[in-house]
Amino acid sequence: MSAADPSRPAVSFPEALSSREQWLEPFGWYREMRADSPVRYDADRELWDVFRYDDVKYVLDNDGLFSADPATAGFGEEIADSEGEPPPVFDTMLFADPPEHDRLRGVVAEFFSPRAINEQADRIRGLTERYLDDLNDEFDLVSELAYPMPVDVIAEMLGVPTDDRAMFKRWSDTLIERPEATTEAEMESFQQRQRETQREMSEYFSSLIETRRADPQDDLITAIIDAEVDGHRLSEREMVGFCTLLLVAGNITTTNLITNAMRCFTSRSGLFDEFRSGETELSTAIEEALRYRSPVQALFRVTTEPIDLGGREIPAGEGVVAWLGSANRDERMFDRPDEFVPDRQPNQHLSFGYGTHYCLGAPLARLEAKIALESLLERFETIEPVETDLRPIRSSFIYGVEKYPLRIR
Ligand code: HEM
Repeated sequence: MSAADPSRPAVSFPEALSSREQWLEPFGWYREMRADSPVRYDADRELWDVFRYDDVKYVLDNDGLFSADPATAGFGEEIADSEGEPPPVFDTMLFADPPEHDRLRGVVAEFFSPRAINEQADRIRGLTERYLDDLNDEFDLVSELAYPMPVDVIAEMLGVPTDDRAMFKRWSDTLIERPEATTEAEMESFQQRQRETQREMSEYFSSLIETRRADPQDDLITAIIDAEVDGHRLSEREMVGFCTLLLVAGNITTTNLITNAMRCFTSRSGLFDEFRSGETELSTAIEEALRYRSPVQALFRVTTEPIDLGGREIPAGEGVVAWLGSANRDERMFDRPDEFVPDRQPNQHLSFGYGTHYCLGAPLARLEAKIALESLLERFETIEPVETDLRPIRSSFIYGVEKYPLRIR
């Protein structure tokens, strides 16, 4: 199977989750799949799905058998540019296998260590307070805080102008979009949008890299330019890929952690007082929100050889979707998996992945979510959701809602 193959189906998402309601609450379907078809082949999508905790962990922990590089089986070619090159983000650690992966990750790892991140706490608090100052009694949590704050943080770390955040949002939304095309023309238009966004991002970052080369600063872009991997500088394409990855990975996921956590918290009356009195630890509840409504529901891998998993034999070169969102609700691993238990411990959720590609930004995401939620709790006595029709984000792997209106006093 190859993306270049015109017979490859345009469907990227399971039929069972295709409606808005189903994608807002996919957990019942996951439960059925864990029981009846824990590893299954979906002929419509020509992909394998893996649902149980142990199997998902196995996929992520064995990068020799499950490659993170979609190009190994031709995936991604459909959004190649006019020179036939796949998007630069495909040249990043996220889509690289060891040993190349480890070399690329090493370029920026020190910037994301827990120590380096903790040094940013005051700056993150300051940014958060500025957004809180501007809130009305009724506001949308997504657009007024959960999106702009994490974007400002990563943009400042990278050294890109925070004023461009509306453009970054448009780019991120396109990159995580789920193709809902049913005809070839619709699919072509979707792919065209993807290519166009990739082109805009490449131009934007190339010009920024140029500027920084002439005038180095104490920021991530300068570190990426100066980095040497095996005695070589990164190519321009790799640098652009790095910037794209950090900018997108660093915002849309954290936005959804903050919003999903707030959705969980407001569903439990009295929980805000428990946080304030110290009866329940906010950080523990954030971990549970990560498990219960994971911002990343699914990860993609490609088999490198035939593999037995869950009683099925998956041939080599096949696309495999590891459902983190389902693993996190697996009754074999968690007691009362479908209940939000704010003080749940231990809580070995897979929301930041597992193994080689374990999220580089996890310490940053945890700190940003803690500061955002803590600051809201400190400043406002009452925080309640405004009754509304929640719309899930249109993506095949990112999970959250487009808007989450709140009323505060
Ligand atoms: C990798 C989730 C925030 C940067 C990952 C992976 C997951 C994940 C599941 C594994 C991908 C895979 O195995 O294919 C999340 C969630 C976040 C979050 C749920 C917020 C709640 C961030 C932030 C940054 C970041 C804030 C940085 C600014 C990365 C990078 C990788 C990664 C660079 C690739 C690591 C590698 O390939 O070695 N993230 N992420 N993430 N994340 Fe995050």
